[in-house]
Amino acid sequence: MDKKPIIFANWKMYKTVEESVRDSLKIDSSIRNPHQVEVFILLSYTSIYAVSQALRGKSVKVGAQNVFWEDSGSYTGEVSPLQLKDAGCEYAMVGHAERREIFGEDYGMIARKFKAVMRHGLIPILCVGESEQERASGKTEEVIRNQLEVAFGGTVPPGGQFYILYEPVWAIGTGVTPTPQEANHINLLVAEVIRGLIGKSAERARILYGGSVSEENISKFLSMDHIDGVGIGKASLDPENFARLVNACIRD
Ligand code: 13P
Repeated sequence: MDKKPIIFANWKMYKTVEESVRDSLKIDSSIRNPHQVEVFILLSYTSIYAVSQALRGKSVKVGAQNVFWEDSGSYTGEVSPLQLKDAGCEYAMVGHAERREIFGEDYGMIARKFKAVMRHGLIPILCVGESEQERASGKTEEVIRNQLEVAFGGTVPPGGQFYILYEPVWAIGTGVTPTPQEANHINLLVAEVIRGLIGKSAERARILYGGSVSEENISKFLSMDHIDGVGIGKASLDPENFARLVNACIRD
């Protein structure tokens, strides 16, 4: 399996189409040895097509921050995996903590999204992670285990890779993180739980960390045995800053 570090930007609800195209191109042209890393940007729906066109044949790829599970139908306001693929996406995130907390998504819904994305040959990024209270009451491992059990319930579609993002809710946008060793421990737990749930298919998983990743800590997270990549929110919004973070992980 390809073991390049995976580094993605989650631009959340920021940037116009023009800004997204300009900043994506800036990132693409600033990465030193692009074949050493897998880099993609999760964009607002409105920017996906324009950015994927602008990045054609380049190394940085495009993904969505959310998706619906049906292919088409009367689902006002939703976007299907087919539509994302058509617009140039290769990745789709499911179950980000902001979707769970603000929009009430539960793991039943997230499981359907996860499987729909895989069925269409996109790479899903499934988010798991405990809240501050769950951590304080010593429930981190139980929460992660439950989230994975629901997401992987039933059958998992055959096909390519899937990414799991361990993103503790208390670390998102706060500047506070678990230690690289703590994150590594949870990522190992994720790997073991998935192996227990789906056996050999678990080899398709890559397990990432997200939450306040910065220039100071990115190399430390990526040096851990069970952290295959990182997801970056705030520190990815400035294209020069994000490119610097990516370049910090590239050997000359
Ligand atoms: P921050 O890097 O701003 O903590 O955001 C992380 C995130 O939500 C990535 O999905």
